[in-house]
Amino acid sequence: MQQFLINQQITKLHCDLGSFVKLSETFDFKVYSNIALLSNRSLTKIYQSEIESFFAQAGFALQIIELEDGEQFKDLKQVQKVWKELFNLKFDRHSLLINFGGGMISDLGGFAAATFMRGIDFINVPTSLLAQVDAALGGKTAINFGQIKNGIGLFVNPKLTVIDPTFTKSLPEREILSGFAEVLKHAIIFDSKLFSLLDSKPFLSFSLEELVKIIDRSCFLKMKTAEQDFLEKNQRKLLNFGHTLGHAFEAISLKSKKPLAHGEAVALGMLLESRLAVTIGLLAKADYLQIEQIINRNYVFDLDGEIKVADVLALLQFDKKKKANEIYWSLPQAVGRAVYDQLIPESEVESVVNEFMLGNSKNVI
Ligand SMILES: NC(=O)c1ccc[n+]([C@@H]2O[C@H](COP(=O)([O-])OP(=O)(O)OC[C@H]3O[C@@H](n4cnc5c(N)ncnc54)[C@H](O)[C@@H]3O)[C@@H](O)[C@H]2O)c1
Ligand SMILES: [Zn+2]
Repeated sequence: MQQFLINQQITKLHCDLGSFVKLSETFDFKVYSNIALLSNRSLTKIYQSEIESFFAQAGFALQIIELEDGEQFKDLKQVQKVWKELFNLKFDRHSLLINFGGGMISDLGGFAAATFMRGIDFINVPTSLLAQVDAALGGKTAINFGQIKNGIGLFVNPKLTVIDPTFTKSLPEREILSGFAEVLKHAIIFDSKLFSLLDSKPFLSFSLEELVKIIDRSCFLKMKTAEQDFLEKNQRKLLNFGHTLGHAFEAISLKSKKPLAHGEAVALGMLLESRLAVTIGLLAKADYLQIEQIINRNYVFDLDGEIKVADVLALLQFDKKKKANEIYWSLPQAVGRAVYDQLIPESEVESVVNEFMLGNSKNVI
């Protein structure tokens, strides 16, 4: 079972970044022959002194592998760079990789570690809100393959995920909002009480103390689901809500002048997939309106006007929930309850996407 640790006490004391730096007090690094930290240049610059202190306390020489920053680099080329550096650093099967960053780093680093010499241990230290509430937990690792989001990957758990909410202090507002989209997803699928909390004010006005509680609840919901159905044969499929259309919009937007952050694409996906749930009679209009309001209050979807509906729809064929040419959707039934394996006529999907792109969504429900 994957362990995870949330640094509530330290946050309450307003002490900075204690848990990562002091990780060697709770985790035994002595069993490893070698340690390296995987991150990107912007993060190693912001957290240089914390990273140096961590290595000193763990009793290892400072070894950092830096990747290019951005979703467009979550690809095989960067994985090869990691493998090459690990060989250069004389990594063996008793070595440890520490993924220090957002979901791009934990997804790619987990994949690189799990395939290096048939698999070495890795630890996730998520620094973005999105990675703290979702990506760094639950054991899905992946890279993108061309425009196919997370097309190649493995299910494999990190040894540990260390969550220190104080890292979010240096996150740009847009990335905070992006992270909240996955929290909102957990609320819509599982937890109407969490939804009411999120609905109580704009996402950006939650304090760090409130954020700690929100992260804690979100992690609990994610971990419980992932543990019950690690390989996503049933219940875990619910977590894909918002991601079928979301991934298609994300992949298309990455090639455009206005790339969406992952969470922004998920928020858009949740909006449109909730409309689909209404059209097939699954979701009541009143519940839909609650979902629409909270998304519209917190997100503006600034898409490149050049994006074509046909290109978005074409990408749906690579969705991982597809079986025998049918897409199986995970959709809300109410705020706090969802179902998986739902079929929807292609014409309905096309019309919901079309009407959104035409800015004519009023008539959908
Ligand atoms: N494996 C899973 O279960 C899972 C779940 C959800 C999302 N994901 C994946 O996660 C990725 C999205 O993660 P993300 O939103 O963290 O993206 P990201 O890793 O690209 O991070 C977003 C940006 O924030 C910066 N950043 C991160 N932490 C920071 C900090 N503390 N201070 C300042 N800047 C910081 C990053 O450098 C980057 O520029 C996608 O690839 C998505 O597919 C995976
Ligand atoms: Zn996601």
